[in-house]
Amino acid sequence: MPTVRDLQAMAGEEPITMLTAYDAVTASIVDDTGVDAILVGDSMGNAILGHDDTLPVTLEEMASRVGAVARGTDDALVVADMPFLSFGADEGESIRNCGRMLKEEGANAVKLESGPHTVDLTERLTELGIPTMAHLGLTPQSVNQTGYTRQATAREDAEEILDLAREHEAAGAFALVLEHIPANLAGKVTETVDIPTIGIGAGGDCDGQVLVFTDVVGLSESSPPFAEQFGDVRSEVADAVDEYIDAVESGAFPAESHSHTADELDDLY
Ligand code: KIV
Repeated sequence: MPTVRDLQAMAGEEPITMLTAYDAVTASIVDDTGVDAILVGDSMGNAILGHDDTLPVTLEEMASRVGAVARGTDDALVVADMPFLSFGADEGESIRNCGRMLKEEGANAVKLESGPHTVDLTERLTELGIPTMAHLGLTPQSVNQTGYTRQATAREDAEEILDLAREHEAAGAFALVLEHIPANLAGKVTETVDIPTIGIGAGGDCDGQVLVFTDVVGLSESSPPFAEQFGDVRSEVADAVDEYIDAVESGAFPAESHSHTADELDDLY
């Protein structure tokens, strides 16, 4: 069973790879490739659920997807991304919601979009045996305050990220996601904290990288500027579906090999 210590042992030794997945089939493909961690991201809101942003993703949707991903994964660390307002308003409720992902759904850890308000919660979750990944920089659940623009380009904002990184490490966070911040700031954070940093749009000096599955394989209709498309699954799917439609319309499918007859029904009419 993977543990957060395995991930921590990789920091500075070999790059950590993390990718999102939202269902068991995708998780098994991603897991078989040897990725180190699978994030069941609330990016599912835009990536697969048809929302404009991540805010509508519910705790129930996350729980169901975490369970599916955990069932499809043998080796990678499964991290449940806690949806907007499933944490933060009330400590007891936050703990129960996070704990449910491990206790009922099979996650190994949770991720919280972080800020000054998540330091105490990170400490409490860690004390209770719920490994917690912090997420600093662009935190898409705050889109109504920040938009999707680059974060921490001003000195005082960069200092705040550095302080929050230290505070979350002290509170027990086992790793930090750094999103859409300057590469030199991400490099400084990586140098400053002992826990692994996993970047997305944060340059090459982090201990690892994370991207959204649908962006990587070319399923997304649009991707952020820092993502890279490594495949063209969208057109492969469209080609397969086109061929299926053509085969049905031409009568080529189903062939005899796809059908069966029952002799005892010959005299039915
Ligand atoms: O929800 C998500 O997929 C994320 C990653 C992009 C870090 O938070």
